[in-house]
Amino acid sequence: MVKICCIGAGYVGGPTMAVIALKCPNIEVTVVDISTHRINAWNSEHLPIYEPGLEDIVKKCRGKNLFFSSEVEKNVAEADIVFVSVNTPTKTHGLGAGKAADLTYWESAARMIADVSKSDKIVVEKSTVPVKTAEAIERILTHNNGKGTNFTILSNPEFLAEGTAIQDLFNPDRVLIGGRETPDGQKAIKVLKDVYLNWVPEERIICTNLWSAELSKLAANAFLAQRISSVNAMSALCEATGADVSQVSHAIGTDSRIGPKFLSSSVGFGGSCFQKDILNLVYICECNGLPEVANYWKQVIMVNDYQKARFVNRVVSSMFNTVSAKKIAVLGFAFKKDTGDTRETPAIDVCKGLLGDRARLSIYDPQVTEDQMMKDLSMRKYDKDHPAHLQPPSPTSIKQVSVVWDAYEAVKDAHGVCILTEWDEFRKLDYQKVYDSMQKPAFLFDGRNVVDVRELRKIGFIVYSIGKPLDPWLKDMPSVA
Ligand code: UDX
Ligand code: ADP
Repeated sequence: MVKICCIGAGYVGGPTMAVIALKCPNIEVTVVDISTHRINAWNSEHLPIYEPGLEDIVKKCRGKNLFFSSEVEKNVAEADIVFVSVNTPTKTHGLGAGKAADLTYWESAARMIADVSKSDKIVVEKSTVPVKTAEAIERILTHNNGKGTNFTILSNPEFLAEGTAIQDLFNPDRVLIGGRETPDGQKAIKVLKDVYLNWVPEERIICTNLWSAELSKLAANAFLAQRISSVNAMSALCEATGADVSQVSHAIGTDSRIGPKFLSSSVGFGGSCFQKDILNLVYICECNGLPEVANYWKQVIMVNDYQKARFVNRVVSSMFNTVSAKKIAVLGFAFKKDTGDTRETPAIDVCKGLLGDRARLSIYDPQVTEDQMMKDLSMRKYDKDHPAHLQPPSPTSIKQVSVVWDAYEAVKDAHGVCILTEWDEFRKLDYQKVYDSMQKPAFLFDGRNVVDVRELRKIGFIVYSIGKPLDPWLKDMPSVA
């Protein structure tokens, strides 16, 4: 029986390994993590991450061929294939701070693998890493290995998106496996390919060299984020001209060369990958003497920051140029629907912006805990990408923020409502009831295009929806930056 061990029981490691266990009954899969808290949660009724469909799979396989353990070294030592799926946040200090990937967790995992291994292993990069990381990891593995063990490194980047992780894993557009162009490298590629062949059609498994696989992951995320920044840039122009960004997206998306996906304008993209990977790409370009290429990709992040700032400015300028002491309801805090993940969520910057103007915030999200929101709002940028259990305790919670467990509770007596995540339940709210319970004039700022603008205006709301023709009220307000 092939034994797989995955280091890192996070958003990538957990779901990926659960699906491998489900689809490959002949493989024993163990997911290990230094966080015993996380491992205990994986072994409990309440999994540490919310992902539709995941719980059923874990319940089906756990204890049979899927195990979660904090015995990191023992399980790594016994495995034939070791996936490394640890966090690779943006560096917060030193060389490349704010841009380069922090490979501390990766390096310590690699040193540990070298330390404890007594048999040959295939080591698979699963977490997104800078191009050429495999080379560095190979060096760590071979230079710290006095036992003659052979390590073959593969890059097998994960393309799943949160909220649809299980479907993405069941039915991937492609599986990418990069390896050295040596006999050992090719042999290792075949071993990993055989794992995926249990459920993925062969034509969807792409094999490349190591560097292409590493760079493809960064490139895919950069291209996806670029589409969002492009449509968000258009949204500003739509507001200025009276065009409707949804109509523009639909019109351009029907061009088969462009395609309809990933063209929804929003308050900005979030998530653990897009910003981090682009910063990483920018850093690599700079290090390779390619400032023009670096600047090109930097713009994708600048437009994203602009979009978040534009939203805050719109809220403040619409509400008579101040939100000081006004109650603003924030609906949605996660970076997208169907996840409780808040890493890089635009809600953080928007809330911080509103708090900067002294608003009182009442936040509701169906999946994000109060503790998480308070941590996010009191943390420095980039720190939040490091796992909570590896951070000092959060500073005292912010007095102007209250977290509630119901959308109607959040909007009660509010002057304005900001929709920051596209949860389905926000589409179905009784907006007449919302309107009746708010202060007047009642403002609604839709950062995700979820409400029916016309219906809400009929009720009496002053509505701002990103990239849509402006409410007559807003047209008369001073223009925003
Ligand atoms: C992304 C990639 O999609 C995935 O392939 C990679 O493995 C990890 O990074 P993820 O961050 O989980 O996945 O979510 P994704 O669905 O890509 O959304 C990212 C952000 O973009 C979210 O904040 C989302 O709301 C936003 N978005 C997405 C838009 O604003 N508009 C769109 O049209 C699509
Ligand atoms: P991702 O979204 O990439 O899956 P997460 O932060 O959700 O990232 O998960 C990464 C996990 O890796 C965390 O639970 C963290 O505790 C774990 N981790 C980091 N370093 C190590 C290590 N050296 N050994 C085992 N687990 C580690």
